[in-house]
Amino acid sequence: MKNVLVTGGAGFIGSNFVQMMLERYSDLNLVVYDKLTYAGNPDNLLPVAKNPHYSFVEGDICDAAKVDEVMRRHNIDTIVNFAAETHVDRSLMEPGGFIQTDVYGTFVLLEAAKKYQIERYHQISTDEVYGQVLEGRSVETDCLHTRSPYSAAKAGGDLMCLAYYTSFNLPVTITRGSNNIGPYQYPEKVVPVFVTNAIDDKPLPLYGDGRQMRDYQFVLDHCDGIDVVLRKGKIGEVYNLGTGSENTNIELAHLILKLLNKPESLIQPITDRPGHDRRYALDCGKVKSLGWQSQHNFEQAVEATVKWYVDNEGWWRKIKDGRHYQEYYQRQYAGREVNK
Ligand code: NAD
Ligand code: DAU
Repeated sequence: MKNVLVTGGAGFIGSNFVQMMLERYSDLNLVVYDKLTYAGNPDNLLPVAKNPHYSFVEGDICDAAKVDEVMRRHNIDTIVNFAAETHVDRSLMEPGGFIQTDVYGTFVLLEAAKKYQIERYHQISTDEVYGQVLEGRSVETDCLHTRSPYSAAKAGGDLMCLAYYTSFNLPVTITRGSNNIGPYQYPEKVVPVFVTNAIDDKPLPLYGDGRQMRDYQFVLDHCDGIDVVLRKGKIGEVYNLGTGSENTNIELAHLILKLLNKPESLIQPITDRPGHDRRYALDCGKVKSLGWQSQHNFEQAVEATVKWYVDNEGWWRKIKDGRHYQEYYQRQYAGREVNK
């Protein structure tokens, strides 16, 4: 691993990964390839902008000619694919873009990986591909039971990766992470929505009964797990990455309000997300055997995240004040309030 193409590296997890890897290794060159959709933000990469081992190329993973050019020009030996449409609610509004990027875009990258016979293709996937898990925990060999256009598209990407491993011997690995929280998360996902609304004394829109469960993990723990799998993971294998414990969204809302010293009356129940998965839960035993385990528990991860949003108000205000965000927020939340 020397010249790494990080697709989707201007997004939330990708930018944390790039910062972490450049801090960790002085012998790696990282090329971020990103379309800069609404979720891609060059500000996320400002801390590494002057690093001589980092470069940025604006481009779409569905653009085979441009992907080919970047592979050749930078002599890429490893691809880590973070690029995706990632928000479940948006996948309910406009699923087409999810299929295009998360399935077709993955195929384009796999073809490039095959052509250039690279050392490793690593796919960043999600616990959502297992579907909701009402009891027990998902292991990597479980069948995929996706229920949203987002998770179905991600599952399509995973299966294409495994097909390239089986059919063409492509050196593929996959990690399936649980919900990430931390610095630079676009304020459409629940934690940055709740934190930034609470700072502004605005309502926290809680879907349904708020008893859905997620495994909220700190983003840098997830990035560390990806690094471990890149270095020690077995080719052709899938690894779950999470804390292995879950909390409800209502617990999350209470903790955020407590940390910010805001009243619980800010919690506003709203109509539920259609097809809302009740619970995800990962068994992370397989990756533990590679020596990885998450370092932050739920409270520590939420506290570190709240602190970052308090300290970096300029970053999220620039997004929230923009027309794109305000139109999205209106379309997503207007008129959904239900009586408390
Ligand atoms: P994000 O939405 O913050 O960022 C996605 C990035 O991909 C953006 O920079 C965007 O510009 C880029 N992108 C989108 N379409 C592209 C295209 N066609 N070509 C090139 N770039 C494109 O996403 P995130 O939360 O950082 O998620 C990153 C990856 O991790 C995704 O694959 C996602 O499915 C997966 N994942 C996310 C979570 C989570 O909790 N956020 C958990 C598990 C797995
Ligand atoms: O599980 C991993 C997945 O986590 C990733 O693959 C996805 O990319 C990422 O978006 C995330 O999906 P979720 O749907 O779990 O995340 P979201 O932050 O949208 O919602 C988390 C929970 O909070 C979910 O039960 C819905 C609820 N929610 C969400 C929003 C945005 C609310 O109650 N209110 C909200 O305003």
